[in-house]
This record gives sequence, C-alpha cells and structure tokens, in this order.
Amino acid sequence: MISQEKIDQLMDSLREMKAAKEQEIEEMRVKWLGKKGEITRLFEEFRTVSPELKKEYGQKLNALKVAAQARIDEMREELSQIVDATKPRMDLTMPGDIMELGSRHPISITREEIISIFRKFGYSVAEGPEIEDDWHVFSALNFPPEHPARDMQDTFFVSPGGENPILLRTHTSSVQVRTMEHSELPIRVICPGRVFRNEAISARAHCIFHQVEGLYIDKNVSFADLKQAILLFAREMFGPDTQIRMRPSYFPFTEPSAEVDVSCNICHGKGCNICKGTGWLEILGCGMVDPNVLRASGIDPEVYSGFAFGMGIERIAMLKWQVKDLRHYFENDLRFLREFETVV
Ligand code: DAH
Repeated sequence: MISQEKIDQLMDSLREMKAAKEQEIEEMRVKWLGKKGEITRLFEEFRTVSPELKKEYGQKLNALKVAAQARIDEMREELSQIVDATKPRMDLTMPGDIMELGSRHPISITREEIISIFRKFGYSVAEGPEIEDDWHVFSALNFPPEHPARDMQDTFFVSPGGENPILLRTHTSSVQVRTMEHSELPIRVICPGRVFRNEAISARAHCIFHQVEGLYIDKNVSFADLKQAILLFAREMFGPDTQIRMRPSYFPFTEPSAEVDVSCNICHGKGCNICKGTGWLEILGCGMVDPNVLRASGIDPEVYSGFAFGMGIERIAMLKWQVKDLRHYFENDLRFLREFETVV
C-alpha cells in the first residue's frame, strides 16, 4: 500500500544506491523504473488511493520518480568520470601541442637600446610613479595654472580636486622634477616610462604610450652640449651618417626650446613617403632647463644650468622599423611581434 513511510523509505534507499559498473546501474533502473519496477508498481496502486489523498500522493510519487531518474543519471555520470586503469589514458603517438613563444616587444627593444646608448654617455636610469600629482607633472615644470594640458580633455585625473590634484602622468618629465628634488648635483639621468593622455585611439595616437626623458645639470652646461648629446644619440640609434637639425620650439619647462629632426634613414634625405618628401623625421623635443624649473626644485640657476630632452619610444621604434600604425604595439598579434624576433 502507498504510505508516507513507504515513500520515505524508497527515497532513502535511492540515495544510498551505489554501482561499480554500467550493468549494475541498468539493473537498478529496471528495479525502480522498469515495467515491473517498484515505482511503476506504486503508480498502479495509486488507482486505489482515496480521492481526497490523490493530489498529495500524486505529487509525492512524481517526485520519487524524478528523484530515481536523477540518481541513475548521476551514477552514470560518476561512473564515466572514473578512469578505467586498463585503458591507455592518452595516445602518446599524437603530435604535441605547439607552445606559441613570444619574443621581446619592439617597445622593450627600443627602450633598452635608448638606455644603453645613454649609459655609454654616463647617464643613469631614474624611475618615478605613474600616478603623480599636479606639482611634479605641471606646476614644478613651469606650466601656468590655466595651461590647457591640465584640461580634463587631455589628462586623466585620479582625484581632480584640491590644491594638488592626483593624476596619471602625461609625460616622464615629472621624473626629472623628482630627480632634481632628491639627487645631489651634478645630475645625468634618463627616465623611461609609461605615460597617459586622454586621446582617441588611432593609427597615430594612443592613450597609453612610452617616453624617455633625459636631464643633465651641472655648472656651465650649454646648448652646444645639448646639441652634441643629441647628435651622438641620433647616430648611435639611426646610423653613423645620420644628420640632425634643430627647429625653435616652445615648452614651458625649457628656454630656449627646440624640436629635433633626423635625416630620413629610408631615403637618406632625398625625400620619400616616410618623411613626406622632406628628408627629415621629427624625433624629440629638448631645451635648456628653464631657471624657474631649477628654482622650483631648489637648484640655484645662477650657479647651475642644464638641458633636458624627451622622446616617444613608439615614435622612435616606428621610424626605425617603419611601423605604420601605433595600435600594432598594443595588440600582441604574434605575426607583428615575430617581425622583431631576429632584432636582438
Ligand atoms: N615632455 C614633453 C612631451 O611630453 C617632451 C619634452 C620636450 C621633454 C622637451 C623635455 C623637453 O625634457 O626639454 O611632449
């Protein structure tokens, strides 16, 4: 007879069911759910249940049937997980999975090359934080308070309010300020690092890129020293026949300021589509450190002078290898990266 006890008892024995072979599971399925199985039999008895109990027992019997099927499926699943020790686990004759090896990234290659050139000239490497304050990125570098570079459109702010907002550095010139604040003179450093600008991403612009800043401060440093340092660098980087030219420019932190072009290493000055027919390629900005900048970091401009320069690593790498689209540097496409495998 159907009773609550009977249903409970069957539910309990369902949970305890165990099988070590597929055949045993099938036997259990027949025992429970087969034509003459326990549950099938209960469904037959169900006809005799009094009308007022039909609803209650109907639901219970259905639940029991569903539970039995679920337990059988579960046992089948468990069994399929057990590895049969008599069967070989893998086919050792199959070809192996090829591991895609990376290579050094062109930005790293270029950064290391720039560093090693300046190391030879006696420069050491300085680093600074990527999350900076307004003072080190702008104010100490003689940017007036209303300068547009501080605009939300150009700079990513971390916390915009207050006297000295926190932001992502827009150039590595911030590291020259930190170096001047903390180092003994004379100073001769280069500062490689990642910088951030609020720019739409395109073939020619990205919101993250890399720069190398250079700074040399001593007594009697002149513009001629700057010119010579840049010329030597350009020849090491782009070849011994490289020429440079300087064009007057403006930066808040240098006076006078210049932009430097190198003779096009593709057409050697004749004019091609890389240099847009001019024979020259722009590589960096530079100048004599503004006395206000020296003073802001506690250096007496009456005694010391210096020069600074800044270049984009992506740009130098683009010119060296004719990379046409800046986005390649960030996509990690192996076909692009493999182009540089043989460089180092
Ligand atoms: N900080 C400048 C930039 O981000 C690059 C630069 C130009 C750095 C001239 C310098 C410099 O030190 O003298 O575009």
